[in-house]
Amino acid sequence: MELLRTTEEDLARAARALREGKLVAIPTETVYGLGADAFNESAVARVFEVKARPTFDPLIVHIARISDLKKVAREIPVFAQKLAEKLWPGPLTMIVPKRPEVPDLVTAGLPTVAVRLPGNAIARRIIELADTAVAAPSANPFGYISPTTARHVVSMLGDRVDMVVDGGPCDVGVESTVIDLTGPVPVVMRPGGMAVETIESVIGPVTISRKPAGPVVSPGQTLSHYAPRTPLYLFDADSLPRSAMARGIERPSAALVFDLIRARELEAWHAFDEVIPLAPSGTLREAASRLFSILHELDAATYAALYAERVPDEGLGRAINDRLFRASKKEG
Ligand code: TXA
Ligand code: MG
Repeated sequence: MELLRTTEEDLARAARALREGKLVAIPTETVYGLGADAFNESAVARVFEVKARPTFDPLIVHIARISDLKKVAREIPVFAQKLAEKLWPGPLTMIVPKRPEVPDLVTAGLPTVAVRLPGNAIARRIIELADTAVAAPSANPFGYISPTTARHVVSMLGDRVDMVVDGGPCDVGVESTVIDLTGPVPVVMRPGGMAVETIESVIGPVTISRKPAGPVVSPGQTLSHYAPRTPLYLFDADSLPRSAMARGIERPSAALVFDLIRARELEAWHAFDEVIPLAPSGTLREAASRLFSILHELDAATYAALYAERVPDEGLGRAINDRLFRASKKEG
């Protein structure tokens, strides 16, 4: 595995490696992606292998400019065009009808493809130089916490990837919002870095998918995902430590709460060995950007259990609560 920086020469090497069918981990504004040339089936097959990801879970295809949407989409729905013009580049993935040239492996045999124009300029430059579309899931083993630094990628995947481009910590910190635009009503399949409120300001009301009926449609929807190895228990806002005490607090343990005010309140209980505010400044943006890093750190520490409280369920808070829920132990 080669660790690259972000000089133009480095980015050109990363692009060349993608052209040669290699796997290159790239920084995006959401999380680090494990990139492969989307039109190279054997490279894409290695992505599934390296992540131990089931092949029924389709990948997101990344492009460098809006005009490249037509290279992967058979048809561009009106809402997709509007959203692309207003909200790309950014943490928004759109599901649109796919062109036959996109390998079935990328889309898990679905007639649709998920496409994203990342907000991170390094990612865009690499894709542009590679002159292709790049299939990239988050660069973590399937089901584990997503990476928001190059170090996370190196420690989780190491020599199983060919290159890692170190673009520093990710800005947004949670994955893109995935929206399906192939039906009569837009459906948000996964809450993420683009607030639903922002999307609705462009195209009007959307539906938020709860759980897929039948087989998993968008396995960001699988119940256990983004999970640390240390058990994490999730509670409603302002219900720690009472609810946690009711079920018994394992020691040593750490608690994860929204802001500094709440952290101070909780510390007074002396119920946990460590209390961590997701957002010292009190913004959901900061909470999102720190979420996965904090989970990586807590999982590397020697806690017997982690306890977390939900954050306000609006804007980026929806994505944070979704990831915390999937990271958590479900009882019953
Ligand atoms: O922010 C992100 O989206 C990051 C960065 C690297 O771009 N990528 C990412 O990829 O989170 P991944 O593979 O971890 O999640 C992709 C999600 C999955 O939940 C997958 O099921 C869904 O997108 N998806 C992909 N193609 C789909 C399709 N055609 N229909 C429905 N869901 C799809
Ligand atoms: Mg993922």
